[in-house]
Amino acid sequence: MKSFSVIQLLLAAAAAPVKAAASWKNVNIGGGGGFVPGIVFHPTAKGVAYARTDIGGLYRLNSDDSWTAVTDSITTDAKWGNWGIDAVALDPQDPNKVYAATGMYTNSWDPNNGAIIRSSDKGNTWSITELPFKVGGNMPGRGMGERLAVDPKNSKIIYFGARSGNGLYKSTDGGVTFSKVSSFTAVGDYIVDPTDANDYNNDKQGLAFVTFDSTSATINGATSRIFVGSATNTTSSVWVSNDAGATWSAVAGQPGTYFPHKCKLQPTEKALYLTYSDGTGPYDGTAGGVYRYDITNGTWKNITPVSGSDLYYGFGGLGLDMQKPGTLVVASLNSWWPDAQIFRSTDSGATWSPIWDWAGYPDMNWYYGLTSPNAPWVETGFISQDSKRLGWMIETLEINPLDSDHWLYATGLTVYGGHDLTKWDTVHNVSIQSLAVGIEEMAVLGLASAPGGSELLAAVGDDCGFTFKTSADLGTSPKTPWMNPIWASSVDVDYAGNKPANVVRIGSGSGSPQVAISSDGGASWNAHSGTDTSKTSGTVAISADADTIVWSSGNAGVLRSSNQGTFTAVASLPSGAVIASDKRNNTVFYAGSTTSTFYRSVDTGATFTSVSGALGSAKSVRDIVAHPTTAGELYVSTDVGVFRSTDFGASFSQLSGVSNTQSISLGVGSVAGKWNLYAFGTGANGNKLYATADNGASWIDVQGSQGFGAISANKVVGSGNVPGQVYVGTNGRGVLYAQVDVSGGSPPVTTTSSVVKTSSTAAPVTSTSSKATTTLVTSTVKTSSSVKITSTSSVKTSSSTTSAAAPTGTNLAQRWAQCGGIGYTGPTVCVAPFTCQKQNDWYSQCL
Ligand SMILES: *[C@@H]1O[C@H](CO)[C@@H](O)[C@H](O)[C@H]1NC(C)=O
Ligand SMILES: *[C@@H]1O[C@H](CO)[C@@H](O)[C@H](O)[C@H]1NC(C)=O
Ligand SMILES: *[C@@H]1O[C@H](CO)[C@@H](O)[C@H](O)[C@H]1NC(C)=O
Ligand SMILES: *[C@@H]1O[C@H](CO)[C@@H](O)[C@H](O)[C@H]1NC(C)=O
Repeated sequence: MKSFSVIQLLLAAAAAPVKAAASWKNVNIGGGGGFVPGIVFHPTAKGVAYARTDIGGLYRLNSDDSWTAVTDSITTDAKWGNWGIDAVALDPQDPNKVYAATGMYTNSWDPNNGAIIRSSDKGNTWSITELPFKVGGNMPGRGMGERLAVDPKNSKIIYFGARSGNGLYKSTDGGVTFSKVSSFTAVGDYIVDPTDANDYNNDKQGLAFVTFDSTSATINGATSRIFVGSATNTTSSVWVSNDAGATWSAVAGQPGTYFPHKCKLQPTEKALYLTYSDGTGPYDGTAGGVYRYDITNGTWKNITPVSGSDLYYGFGGLGLDMQKPGTLVVASLNSWWPDAQIFRSTDSGATWSPIWDWAGYPDMNWYYGLTSPNAPWVETGFISQDSKRLGWMIETLEINPLDSDHWLYATGLTVYGGHDLTKWDTVHNVSIQSLAVGIEEMAVLGLASAPGGSELLAAVGDDCGFTFKTSADLGTSPKTPWMNPIWASSVDVDYAGNKPANVVRIGSGSGSPQVAISSDGGASWNAHSGTDTSKTSGTVAISADADTIVWSSGNAGVLRSSNQGTFTAVASLPSGAVIASDKRNNTVFYAGSTTSTFYRSVDTGATFTSVSGALGSAKSVRDIVAHPTTAGELYVSTDVGVFRSTDFGASFSQLSGVSNTQSISLGVGSVAGKWNLYAFGTGANGNKLYATADNGASWIDVQGSQGFGAISANKVVGSGNVPGQVYVGTNGRGVLYAQVDVSGGSPPVTTTSSVVKTSSTAAPVTSTSSKATTTLVTSTVKTSSSVKITSTSSVKTSSSTTSAAAPTGTNLAQRWAQCGGIGYTGPTVCVAPFTCQKQNDWYSQCL
């Protein structure tokens, strides 16, 4: 693949020092790995299309079916919400223009208001207009849409349907400014759960879509007829203006039940097609419908492909073939068992054919072939493990407007598609592939790089985790995720310093052991037999000689297992303690509490004693990293910066220059025998990733202009094997890596005083010039408040766990998993607090 050869070039060039701000690229996990709520094609410029993700930004389609991330540069620590894309719109008259509504949450989790971003160069550069309210790219109903649209007759006119009861907004200057359309009052007041204690499901859902009727008359240069959908199932949800947005009325005769998800115009037919579901998505739906609205004569027709007991799901994705009016495809939003269903009609919905049907239960006719050569793990970990081959959470299903054979649809796992869709109508068999190359959407929860062992171990949300044996593998999507056991999410991973082939990982599920060990560097795994099925989550450390595992669990305090024995409580550590193993001395472990007490153990983690006053004025310990090759040397990241010890934690000195540090790591340096220290924290250029090769005497901004989202959500790990190579695990943009040259620090480009002054006024200095490396000399930089990300990533993680096959031996079904139905033999009791709810005779689900 293309990206592979780029990797080869990078490695070949590794000997030449990189002086400029580092150039970051993705590790190729491939397959996307998360939910893609929307894909939009340009109506007239062939091949111009964008895919939006809920927490990992916007991607542009390339001619070879791969995708390029286009919102990294605007997603900084302060504006991490810019990776939440709630809507995307293209200008029908100018294929270079693209607009998106950004913001992650409408509740307190995202501190910032949302924005409409606009680009005139296909997303290479952006201008940003902040809105006076929040936007929820990772909120319920994010697959409805698109709620942002450009007038096909007037590039200056843009409408945005907001959430939270904020109503309809309009720009008349090409997205520079927006103002409220006061005449539009149907603001979409449906709330999923008004009493939600997590503060996530208790917001007004707002508006669902804006659809212009390009066949209508033009009034004062504007399209006169505009349809707007609102999230309600108790009154009319589809509204129309016939006077270019001046006045609005409910469309007569509409179904008035269920929530509209998609509304698309077929101009030749002068008809709207709409999909409906009884929930707002993206995980729900037990009934729904598909409708056709004839604009000329104002009639609605129910064209739902199934009825009666076959109708046990709602409808989401809707694709119209613009080359063949009357030909369309629709998808079940969530048919959790046995699989998603996709229907195609060539007669405007009068008749339909399915993409699969029963060939005498339990056999099925698959009128498709499904492969994943671009991301083999999608096949090994999911397609071959789960009856849901075609996917779930299908909110977007698109036919290229200029190519009837080219189609794409997205799921909670990946983007699927193909180039022979019209074969559905001839041989009734189409070829589907995962077509998500370049979409790297993983929420990375733990990273390790073992000197002399596996180059990269990535614990991720929703897709378990991945091993890259050597640096040469980083460009190749893995053949398999971590399996046997496969969990939805792995939350941490560690290797044994003296025996780097010994690796441990932990998961965040329940109902099965959530510790797994490997003795071949993370290629194959076994569940750890020393834990019961109730303990879960947290962080993990394995002793240097691999005989002892200390687990700071998420729900059962700190635990320890020796020689694969039963995990028992470590009474001397508080629950939630940050832990680490000495990488050389098997008897030594380190720990820190959130109240900044530092502890160490010299009896292989059996007991810990506190070291009083070790960490100065620090009030919380964020991370502990032991030197990969030197016993007794360690670094502790705190709210006031990094502390270093060379005597097994007996005493520390504080490094200057970077404060309020988060994830830290050591990696092989550019000079033989030297190690770089990497730290996310507050330095001269703001909240970014910095590196030092001289224990903080000088620091370099190695992040450059690359966005990583919130620094508190990132995991950094230096390569244990490749000089100057460093990895960043993000919350929604996969793993990015770069080659950096930190040898001895570089001369400052600005004077000491101006650097300090700039940073103390919290105005980040950013530059991509080759002189961007900056030396910091004091630690007087202002610390900024950290971003609350823990809860946000847990929403993402828990919300998409449908994908993983239930671990074998499980006696409890996970959230979203099947828990009953005809022919079902798995667990029928759900993990608390979820209950088994019957969806239909064939499928009950933990909700
Ligand atoms: C609207 O949808 C919600 C969620 O599915 C459901 O609980 C409620 O009963 C529906 N209301 C009506 C009037 O159908
Ligand atoms: C409306 O138009 C459709 C075709 O677009 C036709 O099938 C239908 O009969 C018409 N209905 C009325 C009431 O004229
Ligand atoms: C459709 O093609 C695939 C392989 O391309 C094949 O596995 C499948 O059996 C075919 N379906 C039918 C119904 O023949
Ligand atoms: C390992 O740590 C123990 C406990 O501090 C110490 O007694 C021993 O000397 C250390 N061994 C090495 C090789 O550093």
